[in-house]
Amino acid sequence: MIVTIANAKGGVAKTTSAIYLAAAYARRFEEGATVLDADPQSSASLWRDMAEENGGWPAGTDVMPANLSTLQRLARAGHGGFAVVDAPPQGRLFEESVKAADFVVVPTSDSPIDLQQAWATMNAIPDGKPGAVLIVRAEPRTRAFQATVAALDEAGTPRFDAVVCKRQDIKAGMGHSPDKLHEYPRCSARSSKRWGRAHEEPRHGFQARSPHPQRLRHGRRLPLRSDGGMVQDQRVFVFN
Ligand SMILES: Nc1ncnc2c1ncn2[C@@H]1O[C@H](COP(=O)(O)OP(=O)(O)OP(=O)(O)O)[C@@H](O)[C@H]1O
Ligand SMILES: [Mg+2]
Repeated sequence: MIVTIANAKGGVAKTTSAIYLAAAYARRFEEGATVLDADPQSSASLWRDMAEENGGWPAGTDVMPANLSTLQRLARAGHGGFAVVDAPPQGRLFEESVKAADFVVVPTSDSPIDLQQAWATMNAIPDGKPGAVLIVRAEPRTRAFQATVAALDEAGTPRFDAVVCKRQDIKAGMGHSPDKLHEYPRCSARSSKRWGRAHEEPRHGFQARSPHPQRLRHGRRLPLRSDGGMVQDQRVFVFN
């Protein structure tokens, strides 16, 4: 399964989310997880190298560089295990990162002003490919947070129930092993419910929730399954 972390906006915790989600997966399922570093800034690769020098890196979590050719191969052949792509904000590498994904996670801050870019990214996901917004660096008691959630829900944008709160140790985490994973494990779950292609029982699932599951994108209505899932081009979201 390939999960791509993408947002046209910079500095919205894409690299952080890629590393923490991979670490959360490896810890929870005791299986390997690979971060594919598709960003020319190489932040994920640098993070891992620094952490190893600083004395530790989570077991089972790898970071590998990914170029256009790597991503195109993944889009054709998929990935046998669990990979998280840290996508750059734009360009061919962004497009190929999204194309290779089975699921796109769009991290965004809890500021409504950042939502335009999150929506632009959601709308750049090809039809039929599932994706959801993950609110990061959240301060849930603030008006900005509440306005962000309200705007997402008003637009019917799929979003994760779990929000990643603002934490000093995450902020200072670059170059260190992400030992405390906070809310990230709640974004990654082996779901007993259906996820992925309809009629398949996927092994790994990402749960995303929308209070308006009948709408994927702004104003766009999609068929609602009787079990609460939503079929779009043979793919199913799990909402509960
Ligand atoms: N939950 C959090 N709490 C506090 N700070 C955070 C949190 N998540 C990320 N950050 C901080 O936000 C900043 C941006 O994060 P990160 O580098 O992961 O973003 P990015 O989207 O990959 O940026 P770029 O566009 O440059 O690749 C970093 O300083 C990071 O430590
Ligand atoms: Mg980055």
